[in-house]
This record gives sequence, C-alpha cells and structure tokens, in this order.
Amino acid sequence: MSEQNNIDVIVNKINEKKKDLGGKLIILAHHYQRKEIVALADYIGDSYGLSKQAAADKNAEYIVFCGVHFMAESAEILSQPHQIVQMPDTNAGCWMADMADHYIVEKAWEEVTAFLGDTTVIPVVYMNADAEIKAICGRNGGVVCTSSNAHAAFDWSFERGEKIFFFPDQHLGRNTGNKMGFSPDEMVVWQPGKPLGGNTPETIKKAKILLWDGYCLVHTRFTTHHIAEKRAKYPDAKLVVHPECRQEVVALADAVGSTSFIVDYVKEAPAGSTIIIGTEINLVRRLSDNYPDKNILTLHDSLCPNMYKISPEKLLHTLENIGKENIIKVSDKVKNDAKKALDRMLELVN
Ligand code: 13P
Ligand code: SF4
Repeated sequence: MSEQNNIDVIVNKINEKKKDLGGKLIILAHHYQRKEIVALADYIGDSYGLSKQAAADKNAEYIVFCGVHFMAESAEILSQPHQIVQMPDTNAGCWMADMADHYIVEKAWEEVTAFLGDTTVIPVVYMNADAEIKAICGRNGGVVCTSSNAHAAFDWSFERGEKIFFFPDQHLGRNTGNKMGFSPDEMVVWQPGKPLGGNTPETIKKAKILLWDGYCLVHTRFTTHHIAEKRAKYPDAKLVVHPECRQEVVALADAVGSTSFIVDYVKEAPAGSTIIIGTEINLVRRLSDNYPDKNILTLHDSLCPNMYKISPEKLLHTLENIGKENIIKVSDKVKNDAKKALDRMLELVN
C-alpha cells in the first residue's frame, strides 16, 4: 500500500472513532500540527486559544490534545474534574520549556527576591513552561502569558510591582519590553546557575525586566541574512514573524504576532500578495496550500520535531485507547497554584 493510501485508511478509522465517541470527545490541535491532524481536529488554535477552549468545554469526557506537553498540561489544569486529557505522544515536549527547570527557577526566585528586599517583583511565565513553573508564579502573585497577550500581562504586572521576572523565553520578553519602550539596560538576561544570574548588583537594581536565558531553537534559526535574501528577491513582499524570533529579526518585520495572528494576517491579505513567514514550517506550508491565490513563502525552513511527533497513527492509537493511555495528570498541589496564574491570564483584557 502506498504511504498516502495508508494515511487515508488511518484517517478513515479516526473518523469512525470520532463518530462513535460523538460529543464525549474533543480533539484540540495547535497550528504547527501536520495537515492530516489539523483536518481531524475540532478546534485549531494558538496556545491562548487552545487554553481558552480547554477551559470553556465542560461537556466532553475526553480531551485529546495534539500539540506539545506544556499545552496538554495547561488543558488538564483548566479542565473539569470529570474530564480526561490525553496526548497521542507524551514525549512531544518543548526545547524551550526544558530550559527552565523548576528547582533552578525556584532558587533564582528566592535569590532575586531576597536581594531586592522591599522591591516588588512579579513573576510572569510564558505558557511554554512546565506546570511547576506556572505554580511558582501562581503562588507568588504572578501570571501566565502567551505570545498573544504578553503586552497585557506585562501591563498587569507593572500595575502590581516594580520589576518583572520573565520565564523562560528571553526573546518574547525582550520583544515585549521593546514594544513597551524599555531600553536595553532595563532588560537583563538571567543566566541560570550563576550568582545573580551573571549580573552585577547595580544592573539588577536598574533592570525593570529580568529575562530567563531560554529560547526556541525553531525561531532563533531565522536571521537577518535570511531576510536580506528574501527582500532582495521579493521587494514587494510583506514579512510576518513570531515574537519568539530574535529582536533584530522582529525589527525588520512588517508584522509580529502569535500563530493565530499569522493565520489571520494571511487570510486578510489581498489576493496576489506575497507574504514571507518566519515561523514553523508546517504552518507555513498549510497556509500556502490554503491560499493558492497568494504567494506564501517561508523565511527559512524550520521544523519543530516535537510538534511533528504527533502522527495520525498515534492519534488513532489514542482514540482506540480512549481514557486509558497517555493520560496527562498534574498533582493537585501544582494544579491549584498553576491554575491561579492561568486564570489571571484568562481574565486579562488584551
Ligand atoms: P503560539 O501561542 O503563538 O501558538 O505559539 C506557541 C509556540 O510554541 C510557538 O513556538
Ligand atoms: Fe517549543 Fe519552539 Fe516547538 Fe514552540 S516551536 S513548541 S517553543 S520548541
């Protein structure tokens, strides 16, 4: 059997399972999923949209999450007690989330708050982090944010404190700080394991935003060199990038935003336009297929291997073992604290 025939057989079986399970099942998928998975999902979104959907759906017994681990974990924290969250592959992690170990984050938090004494620091955690880090933020008056509401989360935090400690994506943190008008010396990188994160007491006192030294290997691959090449070839093109890109890439883009923002940007562009996109390749390819009247190009091919771990075969296996395998469970203690930070995010006005 050809590979395509094989996929078609699997997709048919998945559709049968979906029919059997009816309203008991909801399949959530992130925009970076393969096209076959996206076509099978009940809801497709960015991290913010997916967390909102997980919190809103109170009926489905089973939430099957096609994305990476931190997203499924957040869905489990926001879901109802009777709901079961499953992932087709629990090994689909996130490199960036792995850069912030919760023991090391807790130590850094203790060190910085002890050093700063009466100065109020608000911890802000990007969705792309383990539940334990969200819990640290929740119990210390902090908030979760995603690429679509980081500015609102920073505004919220500066209404409550003088400084922000942002985990784990230094680029989203810096790009948000730049947008808000902070100068480079008001944003310092905290290198885990070094005293005061490798900073001097003076630089920490002066800083308004402390940026954990984490980054996404998929998005930091894009360079200004790629932009120069593409701009030379397509002088009339628009360039849209994700805010996990480096600041020098963001500075040269026409628009910056979450994956849903990028989807809408392409949708709203006039027919015939050329749009160069700096984000994960599966999303760029899908947009190119969906809009044949527009010239959709990748800034540079960059695939997230973790997102790619979710395959139709694994999704079928999960549906055949519904409620039994690859269940995502967060302990009650972590859940309670992490939920505080997630709920604060869901209450933000973007
Ligand atoms: P979005 O919230 O923009 O979908 O981003 C999630 C992500 O992991 C990007 O790398
Ligand atoms: Fe994590 Fe980057 Fe993959 Fe997003 S694209 S899930 S940040 S590794």
